Amino acid sequence: MASAVPDITLNDGRTIPQLGFGVFQVPPAETQAAVETAIEIGYRHIDTAQMYGNEAGVGAAIAASGLGRDEFFVTSKLNNGAHLPDVARREFDLTLKLLGSDYVDLFLIHWPLPGRYDGDFSQTYRVLEEFYRDGRARSIGVSNFTQHHLGRLRAETTVRPAVNQIEIHPYLTNDTLRAYNSDNEIANEAYSPIAQGAVLDDPAIVAIAGQVGRTPAQVVLRWHIQRGDIIFPKSNTAERVRENFEIFDFELDGGAMGTITALDRGEKGRTGANPDTMNWVPDN
Ligand SMILES: NC(=O)c1ccc[n+]([C@@H]2O[C@H](COP(=O)([O-])OP(=O)(O)OC[C@H]3O[C@@H](n4cnc5c(N)ncnc54)[C@H](OP(=O)(O)O)[C@@H]3O)[C@@H](O)[C@H]2O)c1
Repeated sequence: MASAVPDITLNDGRTIPQLGFGVFQVPPAETQAAVETAIEIGYRHIDTAQMYGNEAGVGAAIAASGLGRDEFFVTSKLNNGAHLPDVARREFDLTLKLLGSDYVDLFLIHWPLPGRYDGDFSQTYRVLEEFYRDGRARSIGVSNFTQHHLGRLRAETTVRPAVNQIEIHPYLTNDTLRAYNSDNEIANEAYSPIAQGAVLDDPAIVAIAGQVGRTPAQVVLRWHIQRGDIIFPKSNTAERVRENFEIFDFELDGGAMGTITALDRGEKGRTGANPDTMNWVPDN
């Protein structure tokens, strides 16, 4: 049976399922089981990162699925302590080993870290270009880059990022950066799509959920889908993982879309770190 999840075509010609499963804060020991549940439900796109410490669980779940590697779209991201070229090369090798694969579908710089490495994320991105050219990263891109980071990358590197993975949800619609990405043919990936749960009690969202007979999470995820962004909600709860997948058999009308977009609180709505001041590097 064909998947209900639409594909988005990236600027390098590759396609990515618009809905995936994110594994941030899924404990490493629980990751294989969580991803196996997601695969059973129908997810074929998994978003992990070196920083999450659970790439091995993702790889084990894919291996246990009995499906071919080419059925999956797997993203990982370079850790903040690994931006120097030789360290990035070594850590990328380890990512492939942990995932049990000779390639990753998409590899991202996790954070630009303007206060580290002399602010030289272009040097780091050029190492990702090596992985792209040797085929071990089918697509490459960035995460948490703002307009000025992207402008600099454009001037100093060759391969346009396929995606920019940024925080987007009804309390931080991030529309200026979204438009900049779109104008530059960089696909928008919306992380923390339900603001880690913070938007689910919003009265406007609860009211729309009542009108369309869906849960608040389904309404918000559907809003993202209709805006054209790529999403990968995280849940450690099987029923929620299923609920989050069942968003392709209803539609929000223009009024509901506008009401949700108008909930934007700008910077005040952000749940994660601000990319211009985030310079944290993990201990190991
Ligand atoms: N690039 C970056 O810097 C970055 C940063 C953050 C996230 N991400 C990526 O984006 C993915 C998603 O973001 P996120 O994990 O921060 O937040 P999220 O997906 O917006 O929200 C996850 C939270 O919402 C709860 N939840 C999920 N589905 C629900 C539902 N249907 N009903 C009620 N509650 C529900 C989960 O609880 P339970 O798990 O307890 O069910 C969890 O506490 C991550 O896993 C990661 O892949 C990337």
